[in-house]
Amino acid sequence: MAERERLICNSHELVEQGAGIRFPLGESITGFAVRYKGNVHGYVNQCAHVPVELDWQEGEFFDLTRQYLICATHGAHYNPQTGYCVLGPCKGRRLQPLSLIERDGCIYLIESERHS
Ligand code: FES
Repeated sequence: MAERERLICNSHELVEQGAGIRFPLGESITGFAVRYKGNVHGYVNQCAHVPVELDWQEGEFFDLTRQYLICATHGAHYNPQTGYCVLGPCKGRRLQPLSLIERDGCIYLIESERHS
């Protein structure tokens, strides 16, 4: 399986504990990137409780304390670094992580390509 990099955004667009950047993953699925404690983290934008998007307003993934990612529907709180749900109806489950890298002022998604 080959890998390729897809440009998501410029590094400066992803502000520490600020708004996340959404990007398409499939026809009806999105992913998102956030910056937390300097590092970039990416997840599929689907709650581990019910598969709905997390952000209460487009790109708003952090709770008021800016320490957790929060689901707008029933309030599940996720650790931004691991994606594990630490509070809420899906406690112990986790968001699906995505591979993101930051290089030369840009953030890329690492995608796997299947060859048939
Ligand atoms: S759908 Fe996210 S907490 Fe219920």
